[in-house]
Amino acid sequence: MHPPPIDQGTVLIIGATGGIGRELSRLLSRRVRTLVLVDRHAERLEPLREELLARNPTLGVLIHRCDVGAPREVDALLAYLDAHFVRVDVLVNNAAVGDRSLYAEERWGRVEEMLRANVWLPALLTHRLLGPMLERGRGGVLNVGSGAAHLILPGSAAFAATQRFLDGFTEALRLEVKDRGITVTRVAPGPLWDEGAEDVTGEVAPFFRISLARCAREALAGFERGEPVVYPGFGHRWVMRLLPLLPRGLKRSLGRLALRGLRREALLPPQAPTVGPEQPVLLAGEPSSA
Ligand SMILES: NC(=O)c1ccc[n+]([C@@H]2O[C@H](COP(=O)([O-])OP(=O)(O)OC[C@H]3O[C@@H](n4cnc5c(N)ncnc54)[C@H](OP(=O)(O)O)[C@@H]3O)[C@@H](O)[C@H]2O)c1
Repeated sequence: MHPPPIDQGTVLIIGATGGIGRELSRLLSRRVRTLVLVDRHAERLEPLREELLARNPTLGVLIHRCDVGAPREVDALLAYLDAHFVRVDVLVNNAAVGDRSLYAEERWGRVEEMLRANVWLPALLTHRLLGPMLERGRGGVLNVGSGAAHLILPGSAAFAATQRFLDGFTEALRLEVKDRGITVTRVAPGPLWDEGAEDVTGEVAPFFRISLARCAREALAGFERGEPVVYPGFGHRWVMRLLPLLPRGLKRSLGRLALRGLRREALLPPQAPTVGPEQPVLLAGEPSSA
């Protein structure tokens, strides 16, 4: 096993200004030579760069605004990397889009955005960047996914499916490149909370929730150990380890319970939906503008 070339390396983080991506940027800023921060929020990229430079004035920080759901913008990102002679040692695929809605009620645009950010983009960037890593005989890909990959999750049908892609993709790719100096790891967190946020309460028991910062620390540590998958947090880790032991029928029953729970909260219609596709049924947490 080769530890991924983090120290004094160049790390590209997709979805760098929010959540886990921001915490990973902070952690890595103390160790890498260059960070390339990509996000769709231009207004959050510059303050993050300033923060990281204040922590480590010798750090090289490149920032690039890009909506990774837009193929033209991704082409522009790849051209930007070439133009700046960026040799990516480690790729962190962290930007993802989630859903909280009955699938039939979701806007197709939203589903498409999800497929692009969660499936198409990690596949494309890995394809583009893996070749040069293999030539150098060193590199790493850290795929930030979700424990949803292992659940039957009504209300998040497309999201859970995209996470299964990331699971299968990571596991197979890892075996293909393991002996050629490349580390490939998937992080599959459960519920997280932001220490910086005012409201850290939630519907999930505190035993299962960990902070974004801890999630990032555990993700990085597992990646450096070359683990195929990291389940951050003690409670979540045990649930994830026990899940494969459950028969699929039982998982379906749990899914049915979850669906009933959503309906009880009056977040989903009791039977067949009565609204048209132009009036999507949204669940709590789903931005209404989405
Ligand atoms: N937070 C959790 O509880 C949790 C739990 C399990 C798994 N995860 C996984 O962890 C990863 C990161 O989640 P997070 O909660 O840390 O996410 P986040 O706070 O939303 O941060 C991700 C960053 O990526 C950006 N982004 C999203 N779509 C993009 C696009 N098309 N182009 C460019 N940038 C884009 C986000 O912008 P916006 O803010 O505009 O979206 C945000 O700045 C995801 O893969 C998620 O599935 C998170």
